Amino acid sequence: MRSKSINFQQTNAPGSPQILDIRREQLKQWLHQCRAGTLELFESIDETTFCHQAHSEFSPVGWHLGHIGYTESLWLLERQDKIKSLFPKYRRLFVADGLPKSERVKLPPLCEIKRYLEAIRNKVLLRLETIDLDREERLWRWLLQHESQHTETIAFVLQLQRWRDRAPVGASWQNITTQNKFTVHPAFNSPMAQVSCLDSEMVCIESGSFTQGNDSVDALDNERTAHQVNLGDYYIDRYPVTCRQYGAFIEAGGYQNSNLWSQRGWRWVQSEQVTKPLYWSEDRRWDNYPVCGVSWYEADAYGRFVGKRLPTEAEWEKAAGGNSPYPWGEELPTEKHCNHDNTVSQTTPVNAYPKGQSVYGCFDMLGNVWEWTSTVFEGYQGFAGFPYPGYSQVYFDGEHWVLKGGSWATRPWALRSSFRNWYHPGVRQILAGFRCAKDK
Ligand code: AVJ
Ligand code: FE
Repeated sequence: MRSKSINFQQTNAPGSPQILDIRREQLKQWLHQCRAGTLELFESIDETTFCHQAHSEFSPVGWHLGHIGYTESLWLLERQDKIKSLFPKYRRLFVADGLPKSERVKLPPLCEIKRYLEAIRNKVLLRLETIDLDREERLWRWLLQHESQHTETIAFVLQLQRWRDRAPVGASWQNITTQNKFTVHPAFNSPMAQVSCLDSEMVCIESGSFTQGNDSVDALDNERTAHQVNLGDYYIDRYPVTCRQYGAFIEAGGYQNSNLWSQRGWRWVQSEQVTKPLYWSEDRRWDNYPVCGVSWYEADAYGRFVGKRLPTEAEWEKAAGGNSPYPWGEELPTEKHCNHDNTVSQTTPVNAYPKGQSVYGCFDMLGNVWEWTSTVFEGYQGFAGFPYPGYSQVYFDGEHWVLKGGSWATRPWALRSSFRNWYHPGVRQILAGFRCAKDK
């Protein structure tokens, strides 16, 4: 069992050799913990699952594992020491812009990819002993977040695959992830978790400015630069939209009512013949869990149904706590704060983590489900691509929307209020829900 207590102190001030040693040791620990969590997902999967493409938009899980290693080798070894290609036979297969996703199914076996990852990691750890950390720390922190994000993709693709393989027609997704039984993680079986009056609770966020974005060493290119944003008064939901709330939209014929949909959304819902979220269950015991498996179009339509709208990214980020990295403050995320890092491996009731509340009393801002916003993904003022222009910049195309907050599968290194995820508005496999906002 991997340790869940991650010591994340921000010791990025250039300093004495002693402090440099502490930072080196910390990076080493993180690399190890991050990898342990990645490999844990491969513990009981068979060869077919490893190589299978569950959906045309996503690569087989085995490919992600190889790509994690390839990326580590490229950025922490080859680019730094100006080496051409360390393991040339894997390059074409695991480079991000190599083979089309559908051709990523002929993979070496898991044991071989593991050996590849280990060979790279040994070289990386050796390099870590001697590098100039002040110069390279940002890159190493990026690399951890790169693996973290691919681990999350592996987690949701595996769930998608289990669902596809085992689902009898008409069976619900959530019943299958829990072996066809409704089971609740023991920690969430408290009376509190069964409270049933969460509907339409909103909090008022008073006008004023807050810091959006992040300039610290772990900030990705798209979070920089931090800047002040001034917002007027607005309301935002205290909780993510629950299955009960969303069920009312389905029952009221929301999927059949064009008035509730954007033009593009209406075209989408008709051509895809969507009538409910991807991960939907009729079982009322999911009432207080967040709706999960909705596209941006569905979230947008639901907002109209209840006379609300999606929050902008800035509204979301301010409600998450404004000026500290986490809704609860500076303390690093643990199992007590929110549902993340594949610890529970499914959603939890939206009020299950009172310790994770933001200063405004919003629950579940981090973890549980990603939350769609009304903001199109773009760079902030002063954007500079890192470590390569294509990391974020190629997605500033007006076709990607920002999601915030992370899910039950988000690793701690990618979990913070300023973190920005982005996807096409029609994607539903990504463990996404939403909450609504309203003008005052
Ligand atoms: C930001 C999660 C959409 O997985 O495609 C991984 C992150 N970029 N490798 C993705 C990413 C390059 C990206 N997302
Ligand atoms: Fe990648």
